[in-house]
Amino acid sequence: MTAARQHTTTDAIATERLGVRYGEVRALADVTVRIRAGEITGLVGVNGSGKSSMLAAVLERVPHEGTVRILGRTPKEARRAGLVASVPQAESVDWDFPVTVRDVVTTGRYGRMGMLRIPRAADRAAVDEALHLLRIDDLADRPIGELSGGQRKRAFVARAIAQDAELLLLDEPFAGVDRTSEAQITEVLRSLRDRGRTVVIVHHDLSGVAELVDTALLLRGRLLHHGPPDVVLTPERIAEAFGAGTTREEA
Ligand SMILES: Nc1ncnc2c1ncn2[C@@H]1O[C@H](COP(=O)(O)OP(=O)(O)O)[C@@H](O)[C@H]1O
Ligand SMILES: [Mg+2]
Repeated sequence: MTAARQHTTTDAIATERLGVRYGEVRALADVTVRIRAGEITGLVGVNGSGKSSMLAAVLERVPHEGTVRILGRTPKEARRAGLVASVPQAESVDWDFPVTVRDVVTTGRYGRMGMLRIPRAADRAAVDEALHLLRIDDLADRPIGELSGGQRKRAFVARAIAQDAELLLLDEPFAGVDRTSEAQITEVLRSLRDRGRTVVIVHHDLSGVAELVDTALLLRGRLLHHGPPDVVLTPERIAEAFGAGTTREEA
């Protein structure tokens, strides 16, 4: 095996009957899906449709039913091997804690550093590149708490980029983000995909999603449809996912 990109022939994520419940609340049921490596896949659905729960289950951050494989491994193995990076929907960060943007992005390299967490030249280079890709070089030494929502989001995307993982999971990276940040994040995700990486992105609305993703998953507590955006994101199917119905939470 000589190709570094041998994963492109594998599934990035394969689930069998994946389900999540929080006590009495069923968030997700019976999702059996294969997400192809080397593509951008979008998880699309109304608020409360189980998108974040699906990502959490894929990472085994919540108890779940069914099985998950990431690049042929268990989620635990894949995480330990540094194959997967994620950007959560909301960061639980103490914004008053005096960490700089560079500090935050550098934590993406922790898995590659030794116990003492001393950055080597390669770590510093990866951090600089990620800061540059997200156009936040000039913010590197600013405390993260002083940034706007869009700038923070870019910092957390940069942290995931710096990790240099095969699979990137992003939960609503465009929420609360200005147009410029959205365009920059989009460009970075496309270039990662073009380099053979796999990107899974959660979207709670439909603007721009058909242009961005290679494959769309339409969720509503279960998997409604899965395929190319022109097949999945039809008016009829969008109405099925977003229209009035039992799982609808927002008007
Ligand atoms: N920690 C939790 N405890 C209880 N219920 C939860 C929790 N997280 C999510 N839920 C519920 O699970 C369902 C799916 O939520 P979520 O996966 O966050 O959906 P989405 O990301 O599509 O908005 C919703 O009904 C939500 O209220
Ligand atoms: Mg969510």
